[in-house]
Amino acid sequence: MSMGLKEAMASFATGVTVATSRHGGEDYGMTCNSFNTVSLEPALVLWSIRKNSGSHAAFVQGGGFVINVLAKHQKDLAMQFTRGSQHERFKGVAMERTDTQRIRISESVAWFDCALVQAVSAGDHDILIGRVLAFDRRDEDGLVYARRTFGVLQPLAADMAH
Ligand SMILES: Cc1cc2nc3c(=O)[nH]c(=O)nc-3n(C[C@H](O)[C@H](O)[C@H](O)COP(=O)(O)O)c2cc1C
Repeated sequence: MSMGLKEAMASFATGVTVATSRHGGEDYGMTCNSFNTVSLEPALVLWSIRKNSGSHAAFVQGGGFVINVLAKHQKDLAMQFTRGSQHERFKGVAMERTDTQRIRISESVAWFDCALVQAVSAGDHDILIGRVLAFDRRDEDGLVYARRTFGVLQPLAADMAH
């Protein structure tokens, strides 16, 4: 594989989310930028999880997940959910529970509570496809991630399009 593959992949800008799940009475959370929307009818989304992630079993066996789309002020939260114990990740985070008892992060700009409908093995990741059971959104800008850097959306001035 070419040396620059990771860099080429990282040039694709995404939003930033924290995926949460509940399994065996414990909460799990991890930062995820592989989230994407798939289908409106039925409402389906997907993301991919590294097969040797410590929380892989919880996300695959937990029956579902919440995708929390982070707001532009939640960069530190994004980093908090990439390391440490699960207990440490949720420490100090304002959160509520969905009807399925999974955690949703209070200040996220949108959240989608999903039932896991399919896990597709794809190389060193599994693609998790979820059916949206409930969701909500707030009218606020989300956090952006590209080239391993967090940022905010800066709309181009209208006259630059000409
Ligand atoms: C911006 C960003 C996006 C990430 N997206 C994903 C992802 O989509 N899937 C994934 O498996 N890991 C992703 N990670 C890495 C995980 O957050 C990290 O490996 C995980 O939380 C490690 O803990 P665990 O092994 O207990 O799951 C991402 C990390 C960052 C900083």
